[in-house]
Amino acid sequence: MSDKKIITVFCATGAQGGAVARALSKDPDLHVRAVTRDVNTQKADKLKSLGVELVQCNTSNPASVRDALSGADGCFIVTHTDFGKQNSFEMEVHEGRQIADACKAMRVGSVVFSTQRSSRVLGLQTRHMDAKAEIETYMHDLDLPLTCVMVPCYYEQFMGLFKPEKIDNNKYILEIPMGTTPMHLIALDDMGVVVRQIFNNWQTFIDKTIGICGDVLTIRDVAAILTQVLRPKTFADKPLTVNDYRNKKDFPGVSDWANLFTFRMRVDQIFNIHHTKMIHPQMKSFEEWARENADTLHNVL
Ligand SMILES: NC(=O)c1ccc[n+]([C@@H]2O[C@H](COP(=O)([O-])OP(=O)(O)OC[C@H]3O[C@@H](n4cnc5c(N)ncnc54)[C@H](OP(=O)(O)O)[C@@H]3O)[C@@H](O)[C@H]2O)c1
Repeated sequence: MSDKKIITVFCATGAQGGAVARALSKDPDLHVRAVTRDVNTQKADKLKSLGVELVQCNTSNPASVRDALSGADGCFIVTHTDFGKQNSFEMEVHEGRQIADACKAMRVGSVVFSTQRSSRVLGLQTRHMDAKAEIETYMHDLDLPLTCVMVPCYYEQFMGLFKPEKIDNNKYILEIPMGTTPMHLIALDDMGVVVRQIFNNWQTFIDKTIGICGDVLTIRDVAAILTQVLRPKTFADKPLTVNDYRNKKDFPGVSDWANLFTFRMRVDQIFNIHHTKMIHPQMKSFEEWARENADTLHNVL
């Protein structure tokens, strides 16, 4: 029988879970069990090609969660937010608690949870962050062997939610309401490597919360870097208030995101680039990431 450690990765077809599954799959001492609701998708095939085991599991079915954790030495948990649903907070907390209960029942030895701070201290609602903070508390109450990673916005968001808007031929603006406050950011792949380091150095990291971060930049800095890397395209920071953002943008969860920006501007958090570099010295700056992904960025913009 193989003596590899089994690590179950939830949301393995997603951004965070996918990054973690890829990073763990490169470690010959680990066996990755990737959780998805549907094993017959392109994303699932991609994971399979990395040599990971796919398991079909739906968090609405507690037995399937326990099966996914059966015999697992560790697991990585990120919970999904369905902003389109009115009760998205309750749904996410329920999902997180189900997984936490299953970890306890299956005696999983190392649990890494992707957490966030609740913005309720400022009277703000950010359902995705509030839910994760609630789940983290529940995990502590259960006394799970736990390490939390607090994950900032991904560099990849500049191809998604933060995608610069084209205003003219080769001219783009960034509309992110952070003012002059620097934003903490990280590349998804680097986030995955940090989680691998946590599993591989468990005694160092157990019981800790680590605010990971690959770069700290104002939106103006981001625009300058994108201009440098993607010329002849040019990018500018278009300052807007959080309320402008809330009123102008139209996507599910816009209010939660607007409140996230307010929270990030007002509350000093524990994202720490120096600490993260000690864990993962090859971690990329935003500029390094943008240069490496210049072709994709050109295609997306
Ligand atoms: N965006 C950011 O910059 C950022 C930064 C830090 C933290 N976060 C947090 O990260 C969380 C999401 O992580 P992510 O970015 O990795 O998500 P994602 O890329 O959107 O992936 C979502 C994952 O959730 C799974 N899932 C389980 N139940 C689902 C359901 N009912 N509907 C849709 N998908 C479901 C999907 O797996 P299957 O379809 O295969 O089952 C998929 O793997 C969010 O809650 C957010 O708060 C985001």
